[in-house]
Amino acid sequence: MTAELRPTRRMLMGPGPSDVHDRVLRALSAPVLGHLDPEFLALMDGIQQMLRGLFKTENRMTMPMSGTGSAGMETCFVNLLEPGDAAVIGVNGVFGGRMAEVSERCGATVTKVEAPWGQIVPEDAMIETIRRVKPKVVGLVHAETSTGAWQPVEAIAAAAREVDALLILDCVTSLGGCPVEIDAWGVDAAYSGTQKCLSCPPGLAPVTLGDRAMAAVAARKHKVQSWYLDLSLLANYWGGERAYHHTAPISMNYGLYEALRMVFEEGIEARHARHRLHHEALYAGLQQIGIGLANQEGHRLPMLNPVEVPAGIDEASVRKELLERHNIEVGAGLGPLKGKVWRVGIMGASCSANHVALFLSALENALRSRGAKVGAGAAAAAMQHLEAAETAAR
Ligand SMILES: Cc1ncc(COP(=O)(O)O)c(C=O)c1O
Repeated sequence: MTAELRPTRRMLMGPGPSDVHDRVLRALSAPVLGHLDPEFLALMDGIQQMLRGLFKTENRMTMPMSGTGSAGMETCFVNLLEPGDAAVIGVNGVFGGRMAEVSERCGATVTKVEAPWGQIVPEDAMIETIRRVKPKVVGLVHAETSTGAWQPVEAIAAAAREVDALLILDCVTSLGGCPVEIDAWGVDAAYSGTQKCLSCPPGLAPVTLGDRAMAAVAARKHKVQSWYLDLSLLANYWGGERAYHHTAPISMNYGLYEALRMVFEEGIEARHARHRLHHEALYAGLQQIGIGLANQEGHRLPMLNPVEVPAGIDEASVRKELLERHNIEVGAGLGPLKGKVWRVGIMGASCSANHVALFLSALENALRSRGAKVGAGAAAAAMQHLEAAETAAR
């Protein structure tokens, strides 16, 4: 007999998935309805309405795609790009690189605007390239999870409009953790994932596409190469007809429904403020012991922190100790940041005073026991920051 399934309850403080709230876990175990049952269709309408509220959009085509964040990425690119089209993609980490790869697989000619990992993609270089290339699609990562860079969007979106290009924005890590304003910024298509600041398990990819994007889908010369992700077919399920396309993952949609309800109970702005405050507290704790962040000052994401590994420390052994002794998961650095940072996520349910305090004290202890010259009192400094903010708010 194989062993009973008994996963350990970890504190998930890596680049995702984040901790899943018990309310969402309970929703996942509710009785399964048929995917065309009127009760389930009403739940899907509720998800759609809440996603519009969260993406800050009126877009009719707003829904959870079945699949992880990458399915959201593919949905936007395979529907909007055809062979021979041009795309301009901002690349400053793993996920901009993946956008470029997906665009090439669609048969597009890709021009990359690159920036060092940890920095944002420079707006002037991006705008100049958009004006010169006049692409069909511009791709940008709002929150680059591989580095913690927080990309400004508005000026690039305006430049895309000037040349009639469609802007695709990756909001996998930003949605639910920092402001996302699809309509106000003029974003044509955006996608996210459930496992970051929404604190639902991985498995669905919220997407939203505006009228300009859907007009481009309708005007395609070639069929979308992916039957599963073809929005013209999916529109029949999400439109009035409710025609069968594929069997929706029922339980995951229950989970997302409850996770979104929790976002609106807390309030979108309050949720953003919580992420910002705990990021500041984490940073205050790190500074207390002399450790920095490896991303560009002024463009630091609240929910993903690239914490610098002190010289001479084997980062993997620290991660192992955090996991085995404290049940805390943090992520390793990727690409040029491999071995140089830990990626520390404070997303959704993993964004709390307890998470910040336990992580900082475990890190401080692990570093000291390895002979690193670190100061003392990281967790206390973080808690003082939180208390000062509470006092100021009273
Ligand atoms: C910014 C970004 N885009 C896309 C993805 C891909 O999402 P998934 O791994 O859920 O397919 C991720 C996952 O970490 C991400 O952080």
